[in-house]
Amino acid sequence: MLSRRQFFKFLGWGNFTAAAGLAFGPGLIRFLYPRVLFEPSLVFKAGFPSEYPPGTVSEKWKKNPYRVWIVRQENGEFYALLAICTHLGCTPRWLASENKFKCPCHGTGFDRDGINFEGPAPRPLERVKITLAADGQLLIDKSVKFLEERGDWGKPGSALTV
Ligand code: FES
Repeated sequence: MLSRRQFFKFLGWGNFTAAAGLAFGPGLIRFLYPRVLFEPSLVFKAGFPSEYPPGTVSEKWKKNPYRVWIVRQENGEFYALLAICTHLGCTPRWLASENKFKCPCHGTGFDRDGINFEGPAPRPLERVKITLAADGQLLIDKSVKFLEERGDWGKPGSALTV
């Protein structure tokens, strides 16, 4: 049997524990779960080279989460351009009849290679890594970027000749 003193002491600790639980409980539970963004992989297979005729710009992978154009030159060389305007990040459109990418937000134009030639964008579109996977499909890796202004466009992975 609890004495009166022990009873109030027990009651005090009980109240303290309940108050602490209410105050810190939600934070503690949130702390136990990782705060990560479950973003889609930055690496994806984009089909076989034969699916891309020479001299074309494919918009097949332009939408989220990919946001990449796959360009195949007349000579068969591939490169992958990030479909993100280097001004403020809008998604430009490919205008085949004018042979250019045009950003609808502030009017920047990029030529087929991704070089900016009109409007406010300060630099060319970025290229991402393109290689061949073991099964022969194009393998795009958006975690590796090639910037023209850094002289990256001649580096391995910035283009692919099949
Ligand atoms: S975001 Fe493309 S021109 Fe401004």
